[in-house]
Amino acid sequence: MTDVGCSGSSPELPAAGQHLVKVIGNLCFTFFVLSVLVFSVIAVTYQPPDPWFQSPKSLTKSLSAIIPNGTFATDDSLLPTGEDLAASPPSAFPAVLPDYSGGGTAAACDPSAPLNCSDRAVLAAIQRFNSKIFRRSIVFLSYDTPVPGSKPDECDAAWRFRNRREKSWRRYRDYRRFRLAPTDNCTFEVVKAGKFHSGISAARRPPRPRPGSGAASPPAFQIQDAEINDTIPTVGSESQFRNGRYLYYTRGGDYCKGMNHYLWSFLCGLGEAKFLNRTFVMDLNICLAGSYTSTGKDEEGKDFRFYFDFEHLKESASVIEEAEFLRDWRRWNRAAGRSRKPGGKISVRKVPTYKITPMQLKKEKSAVIWRQFDGHEPENYWYRVCEGKAAKYIQRPWQAIWKSKRLMNIVSEIAGKMDWDYDAVHVVRGEKAMKKERWPNLDRDTSPDALEEKLSKMVQPWRNLYIATNEVFYNYFDKLRSHYKVHLLEDYMEMWGNRSEWYNETTMLNGGRPLEFDGYMRVAVDTEVLYRAKLRVETFNNLTRDCKDGINTC
Ligand SMILES: *[C@@H]1O[C@H](CO)[C@@H](O)[C@H](O)[C@H]1NC(C)=O
Ligand SMILES: *[C@@H]1O[C@H](CO)[C@@H](O)[C@H](O)[C@H]1NC(C)=O
Ligand SMILES: *[C@@H]1O[C@H](CO)[C@@H](O)[C@H](O)[C@H]1NC(C)=O
Ligand SMILES: *[C@@H]1O[C@H](CO)[C@@H](O)[C@H](O)[C@H]1NC(C)=O
Ligand SMILES: *[C@@H]1O[C@H](CO)[C@@H](O)[C@H](O)[C@H]1NC(C)=O
Ligand SMILES: *[C@@H]1O[C@H](CO)[C@@H](O)[C@H](O)[C@H]1NC(C)=O
Ligand SMILES: *[C@@H]1O[C@H](CO)[C@@H](O)[C@H](O)[C@H]1NC(C)=O
Ligand SMILES: *[C@@H]1O[C@H](CO)[C@@H](O)[C@H](O)[C@H]1NC(C)=O
Repeated sequence: MTDVGCSGSSPELPAAGQHLVKVIGNLCFTFFVLSVLVFSVIAVTYQPPDPWFQSPKSLTKSLSAIIPNGTFATDDSLLPTGEDLAASPPSAFPAVLPDYSGGGTAAACDPSAPLNCSDRAVLAAIQRFNSKIFRRSIVFLSYDTPVPGSKPDECDAAWRFRNRREKSWRRYRDYRRFRLAPTDNCTFEVVKAGKFHSGISAARRPPRPRPGSGAASPPAFQIQDAEINDTIPTVGSESQFRNGRYLYYTRGGDYCKGMNHYLWSFLCGLGEAKFLNRTFVMDLNICLAGSYTSTGKDEEGKDFRFYFDFEHLKESASVIEEAEFLRDWRRWNRAAGRSRKPGGKISVRKVPTYKITPMQLKKEKSAVIWRQFDGHEPENYWYRVCEGKAAKYIQRPWQAIWKSKRLMNIVSEIAGKMDWDYDAVHVVRGEKAMKKERWPNLDRDTSPDALEEKLSKMVQPWRNLYIATNEVFYNYFDKLRSHYKVHLLEDYMEMWGNRSEWYNETTMLNGGRPLEFDGYMRVAVDTEVLYRAKLRVETFNNLTRDCKDGINTC
């Protein structure tokens, strides 16, 4: 079906033909969009959960919105990823049950004795206090033994928790300072509790266990958040490498395109690898499109791990890093050449065009399937592999893509600073507010006066109100400050400033060079803070009657 006149690869055309190529390209693309539409409608039942096509009903609409003339123009003021898709949070969760009993031991029974933070009664009091205050927003997973705070009647306690609205299994850490007082009946009582991350004496993480320090693999970088392990896995021995089966995509036209395009393509490759039961060879290098950078220019040399959770990816899919893979491949090939061992060279099947479908490769025995994406755009996009009939067989494993834990730590900290007790409004402005022909009312409906009026009907006065927005003017929301405690991402700059944990960790990951907190990261954090709010007000539906994707799309 995709073959109708779109054989595409026309490298020998003279310069005069360039324009023609473009026109044909566009025609092909239109045709491609149509065929995707047709197939997708047929294959509705095959659609995995997907942040862009939340319901089959909206499927056709969003598809045409995503791929209008070859650019991915999805709404990128929100960036849901796999962790936001699960229907409900994991249920069988190993939560610790607070142990309230056995608190009243001898030591605590002497009210005049100095406070001993290791006393079980202290931890019991803190657990009791926490579960009363935060029961509805977070799940407590484990506590460390409290340690002395700065004054004799203070203890600092640290614990791991999970937000009830977080649908991943990831754990976060908090430590707070508590002032305690003895009660009549041999227990303690919390009389004052500090804010998020106030218990700095308990902040120090327990030392990371060092598994058998092998001379072969020097520590690439020191891991600070003891929960993050996104080191690059190695293949190991020659026989392990030879026994593996790999799917290798060379860089295609997707490079430096928008992040939505990147994910759409990357997940196609990952989906094909899963279909073929092979390990996907992935390039951790990302080129960040100019729309997200402060310079407005595409920036190369970004790392997948700045944005996404590589550890989770390693656990949920079979992947190997490209440089690691190529080095081993060359090494074992050379070794085979020298020794003339029976194993011989590593077999490879080169696949020059996406028109060879995954189904045709299912029986392929070669160790490496190497898809090469030569040719012109849009012929050289990775996602073309998953078009047409292949769409029925290949599912994009969205669940493998979570946001970086380092970014999620910031999200957790912002929500934690508001004690998880906040409402949020998503205010879409930017380009859409300017394009009056497609969003005729948006600008007016998100003006300061309109916001003041509309929000007063939905949000209680003096609530914490987090505003997730692409409006660049900080003071734009000042009118709301006379009704709410307004919070904007910009208010939390120190969380990625040069004294922050994020800064330290990303600098290390980036080979010692400080990293900019770029536009994509901002939207990623905004999105997740928004999703954790108690009450959520959306621009489309709640603030304006305009449609998300432009006039007449809803
Ligand atoms: C591309 O799409 C935009 C709207 O999304 C439209 O205004 C423009 O005319 C289209 N360009 C082409 C070449 O089809
Ligand atoms: C505090 O209590 C722990 C055990 O509960 C004990 O090992 C420790 O010595 C006590 N510390 C002080 C200063 O009494
Ligand atoms: C101890 O006293 C407090 C009030 O002072 C009360 O809330 C608590 O239930 C009592 N605990 C026990 C085990 O009696
Ligand atoms: C990190 O994970 C890898 C497996 O992906 C494991 O081999 C390694 O030991 C882990 N490192 C640490 C420090 O836990
Ligand atoms: C997938 O490959 C692994 C080894 O690479 C093999 O053990 C397993 O049986 C294969 N599964 C299928 C469904 O082919
Ligand atoms: C951190 O940033 C501030 C201003 O942004 C600057 O004055 C300071 O010198 C920086 N410190 C380091 C260690 O880079
Ligand atoms: C970041 O690193 C600097 C220097 O290594 C250190 O002084 C600082 O405490 C670190 N900050 C955090 C939040 O870890
Ligand atoms: C926003 O609109 C949706 C759909 O109309 C509605 O279900 C929701 O309650 C509204 N939210 C608020 C805060 O009014």
